[in-house]
Amino acid sequence: MALKKMKCVKVEKKGGIAWVWLNRPEKRNAMSPQLHFEMDETLKFLETDPATRVVVIAGAGGYFSAGQDLKEFFRANENNPAGRKAAAEAANRWRWERLYKYDKPTIAMVEGYCVGGAFMQLCATDFAVAADDTVFSLSEVNWGILPGALVSKVVSDTIMPRKALYYCCLGEAFDGVEAEKIGFVNFAVPKEELVNKTIELAQKLMAKSPAVLRATKHAVRQVRTMDFDQSYDYLAAKGQAIKVGDAQDSYNTGLSQFLDKKAYKPTFEPFALKKGAKKAAKKAAKKKATKKQAPAKKKAAKKTARRK
Ligand code: ACO
Repeated sequence: MALKKMKCVKVEKKGGIAWVWLNRPEKRNAMSPQLHFEMDETLKFLETDPATRVVVIAGAGGYFSAGQDLKEFFRANENNPAGRKAAAEAANRWRWERLYKYDKPTIAMVEGYCVGGAFMQLCATDFAVAADDTVFSLSEVNWGILPGALVSKVVSDTIMPRKALYYCCLGEAFDGVEAEKIGFVNFAVPKEELVNKTIELAQKLMAKSPAVLRATKHAVRQVRTMDFDQSYDYLAAKGQAIKVGDAQDSYNTGLSQFLDKKAYKPTFEPFALKKGAKKAAKKAAKKKATKKQAPAKKKAAKKTARRK
């Protein structure tokens, strides 16, 4: 299966990284309903796409996103509750539910403008790298609404409470350096280093065991709202779950490469991934699917034989 041609989103795949570009640069990548529908489909597709190991969310033309499209998302849908609901559902689904629980690591590459509703995808991605001259603004208060959908929630969950109140209530613009200082992004770098820094981070992520990385990012997110007893229980179960269907057999491989082969130091680097493990996993999945189909095929063959 492949992605259909889209109007507001562009996808480029290279070396395991899927670059997903919000693609309305003439509108500073303001998010229209159409863009939300296409992003929702795109992320759904890439989550199980074998060629994609890391997803980068970025904006074409040098703009991350100027937030919701005030004309197409808000005004045009004022008297169209069905259209408004459909757009809001898709908008929230990709910017939060999909990204927050995504099975693959995600990075926001931020430059130009990051305004209002774009903070949802900024906070939902696992990591964020910004150009140091990016203009961030929670502009809602400046034009008459509060930071809605989940923006107030995810902003106050991500950064320090006084900073969250300050930027939400003042709507004052700030740059990438401040965004890094208060925890909105992992790194703020000069614009000319942005792409390389993003690739460097993606490559570090791709060097880890995918099963362990997936479980780790889910775990770190889930335990935030659990108490200690629930966390013990959840983490023990999640730890066991990694071992099922882990093409790398990470626990044994990691230990053996350190203890027996003395090939690496876990304090500083990951164990070397087994080559061909991805192929083996794909083969196993195919075999499983064929097995499932086999009884149905046998039944059909018997039926045909009886008819004859
Ligand atoms: N919604 C709809 N159209 C937008 C948006 C937006 N959020 N942002 C920019 N545009 C459009 C402009 O209307 C303009 O369209 P036009 O060429 O048809 O006139 C085009 O994009 C270019 O915008 P300019 O303002 O000319 O570009 P400039 O680079 O000077 O300024 C900036 C960019 C600072 C982002 C400015 O457009 C702006 O402040 N936009 C509003 C941002 C905002 O408040 N977004 C809503 C956040 S709240 C939320 O998301 C729920």
